[in-house]
Amino acid sequence: MAPTPHVQPVVDSTAVFKPNLFKGKVLFCTGGGSGICKAMTEAVMRHGASATIVGRKLDRLAQAAEELSKATGQQCMPAQADVRQFNQLQDAVAKTIERFGKIDFVICGAAGNFLAPIDGLSVNGFKTVIEIDTIGTYNTIKATLHHIRASKGSYIHVSATLHYKGTPYQVHVSAAKAAVDATSAVLAVEEGPHGVRSNVIAPGPIGGTEGMDRLSPKGPAQQSVYPRLPAGRLGDVRDIANATVFLFSDAASFVTGQVIVVDGGHEHLRGPS
Ligand code: HXC
Repeated sequence: MAPTPHVQPVVDSTAVFKPNLFKGKVLFCTGGGSGICKAMTEAVMRHGASATIVGRKLDRLAQAAEELSKATGQQCMPAQADVRQFNQLQDAVAKTIERFGKIDFVICGAAGNFLAPIDGLSVNGFKTVIEIDTIGTYNTIKATLHHIRASKGSYIHVSATLHYKGTPYQVHVSAAKAAVDATSAVLAVEEGPHGVRSNVIAPGPIGGTEGMDRLSPKGPAQQSVYPRLPAGRLGDVRDIANATVFLFSDAASFVTGQVIVVDGGHEHLRGPS
């Protein structure tokens, strides 16, 4: 009889990294009102940082900010902005500086997705995702760079793995995320001499997120879509949060311009997943 496969457990970053790792630091996170980016923000706050979370819907953001503050004991400010609108991002950055005095870390996480074949996607549908993911990332960098230079801070961009191969019905997101990866690499090279680091986290299948819900069945059926994942389970938002804590920490001071794939080994599987 075949042995039961080992399942890699999920841990919280506080079980591994020092609780005061980010004491006095300030995070600016687009897309921080929900899902993966909210969990990334929570982890950074659990290690002592304050945060601004940015998104389009103020009521959702305000509720998330309250939850994050309660869960971590740190300050979290909601700032309404559509990342496609540079002026709105500038306002969110100004509010952050007014409240917290600086920005040390930026997460470019705001993204849009839906399934559509090339032939069925409208020109505006393609453009919309490019504008949110790619131009939104550029706008966020542009609005924050001056402050990140001043703090010798660090960027993390949330990308994906689906553009490494031809993923059907994902032409808009694949093009957008490939551009995000390239943008991060250029940022790392240009700004490295100023003490700024820039890396990408590429999440694999992360259970229970809006992205996964849009691309595969909801609920427990999600696990059954990936029966052969080497890690033995779907990803958890905390897996992405843990990678975030490492990349923002000084332990990653020689890591820049990289794409860190956090996917339980999915990318290396041959054949059906
Ligand atoms: C085909 C669609 C569509 C769909 C929208 N469009 N949804 N086309 N199938 N399901 C088209 C519209 O018809 C329109 O084109 C154009 O896209 C813009 O749509 P709007 O609704 O006007 O845009 P907007 O209100 O700005 O909404 C943006 C959005 C939306 C991306 C379309 O889904 C959204 O706000 N999403 C945010 C949340 C989200 O997607 N989270 C998941 C991120 S996960 P026409 O031609 O009609 O004008 C993620 C991870 C990726 O990104 C990796 C996963 C592994």
